[in-house]
Amino acid sequence: MFIIKQSKDLFRYLQKQRAAKKTIGFVPTMGALHQGHLSLVKKAGEESGVVVCSIFVNPTQFNDPKDFELYPKTLENDIYLLEKEACDVLFLPDTGEIYPSGITQTQVYELGYLESVLEGKYRPGHFQGVCQVVHRLIEIVRPNQLYIGQKDYQQCMVIRKLLTLIHSPAKIIICPTLREPNGLAMSSRNMRLSADEKQKAGGIFEALSYINKHMKAGPVKEMIEGAGNLLIQKELVADYVVIAKAEDLQIIDVWDGQTKIIALIAAFMGEVRLIDNMLLPLNFASYGN
Ligand code: PAF
Repeated sequence: MFIIKQSKDLFRYLQKQRAAKKTIGFVPTMGALHQGHLSLVKKAGEESGVVVCSIFVNPTQFNDPKDFELYPKTLENDIYLLEKEACDVLFLPDTGEIYPSGITQTQVYELGYLESVLEGKYRPGHFQGVCQVVHRLIEIVRPNQLYIGQKDYQQCMVIRKLLTLIHSPAKIIICPTLREPNGLAMSSRNMRLSADEKQKAGGIFEALSYINKHMKAGPVKEMIEGAGNLLIQKELVADYVVIAKAEDLQIIDVWDGQTKIIALIAAFMGEVRLIDNMLLPLNFASYGN
């Protein structure tokens, strides 16, 4: 695996690959890699001629400076895991490489409603930061396919919108969430949880499963309350428990029994904020794939 730190070097390398008619699969990450990330790398390897993974903890998408500071960093292990997964290139830029003119935002991305709800509401500026970094990474990598995890469902929708806004031909591939044995969605942030907290954080999956099991046409209030109670029992403090249309994240109070919907939860376990979701009824094909 090549480790490339400068965008001009990566650009040059990828131009050669393109000239050799290889397609480029790209997995953007912030490191602290887990099996979920590796499943994206694997899928990219199956579908692309060259796989590029980036590791860059993007300062502009953290609305909470403490969260940025405490974001886990495990570079040596990340490199080991990527080599094992047959990743071709690790792009490891520094802040100057990604933001040559500084981190002050110059371009505003018109995300509309998507930015005003759920993660957009609870983490002001977060999605602008995601767009800033993903836009820059796409300019450098110019991928044919971009692989991201369904765990960050709203981010998937934001990136899809970004691709349209910047007229990128890259295809977004949304990959299923991988889970721990107790159902906890794999996330780099889980590294900040104690064993006991990890166990209790499985309550998020229990709450989503509760909604899935009890979902029926009509008002969704009872499902939301039932899920909320399960979170409280596990000492999870919820920012939100909602059911929304899978297509556009419009939050619903009443389900017609047909529209594809998604349950979404954000909750704190101690100081760590976790998010997860479940497309309902479970097992219908992932949105966008
Ligand atoms: O999902 C992430 O890890 C980040 O938001 C991303 C897409 C790599 C942008 O920094």
